[in-house]
Amino acid sequence: MTVTLRVDATPTAGALTLRPWNAGDVEALVEIYRDPTLRRWTSLHVEDTEGAKWWLDIQDRGWRTGKRLSFAVLEDDLPGVAGYLALKRPDPQGSAAGLTYWTAAHARGRGVAPRALEGLSTWALSTGGLRHLELIHEAANEASCRVAGKASFRLHHTLPDGSHVHMRDCR
Ligand SMILES: CC(C)(COP(=O)(O)OP(=O)(O)OC[C@H]1O[C@@H](n2cnc3c(N)ncnc32)[C@H](O)[C@@H]1OP(=O)(O)O)[C@@H](O)C(=O)NCCC(=O)NCCS
Repeated sequence: MTVTLRVDATPTAGALTLRPWNAGDVEALVEIYRDPTLRRWTSLHVEDTEGAKWWLDIQDRGWRTGKRLSFAVLEDDLPGVAGYLALKRPDPQGSAAGLTYWTAAHARGRGVAPRALEGLSTWALSTGGLRHLELIHEAANEASCRVAGKASFRLHHTLPDGSHVHMRDCR
C-alpha cells in the first residue's frame, strides 16, 4: 500500500503533493545531499547514484513493511523535489510513530516542512490508528524547532544528550 497526500495552497504559497519516492528521483537526491546544512543535521547521506538507489530501496522497503511511510514533497508549479518527510512506525500496529524531515536548500524558508508535517500529522492521527506522534531534533537545530512549533508539536522533554523531544497527540 502507498499513499499520496495533498496540502492546500495558502495565500502566499502553492499546494504541496506528498508522494512516495520513485526511481526518477535519483538525480535530485544526489544534488540535494550535496548541501552541507542537510548533511550537518541528518545521519543517512546520499553520496552518488548508487547511494541514491540504496536510499530509495530503504524507502521502498518501509512502505512494504509499513514501518516507514516516506514521502517526497513537491510544490505545485515549481520544478524539482522540495523536501522529504517520513512517518516511522517500528510497530505498524502500535499507537505511536516518529517523524523526520528535511527541505532541499533551494526550497527553504517558504514553510514547506511545517505545512507538509501538519498535513501528514493530521492524516496519520485521523486515519492511521495513531494517537501519539513524536519528533526529535538536536537542541541547536533552531530551524527544526520552529518547524515543530508551527505544526502544533509541543516540547515534551529533553534527552540526556540535550536533544529536544516534541509531541503531538490525537485531540
Ligand atoms: C529545518 C528545515 C526542515 C526547515 O524547513 P523549511 O521548509 O525551510 O521550514 P520553514 O520555511 O518553516 O523555516 C523554518 C525556519 O528555518 C529558518 N529559515 C528561514 N529561511 C531559511 C532559509 N532560506 N534557509 C535556511 N533556513 C531558513 C528560519 O529560522 C525559519 O523559522 P521562521 O519561519 O520562524 O523564521 C530545513 O531548514 C532543513 O532541511 N534543515 C536541514 C535538515 C534538518 O535540520 N532536518 C530536521 C532534522 S530533525
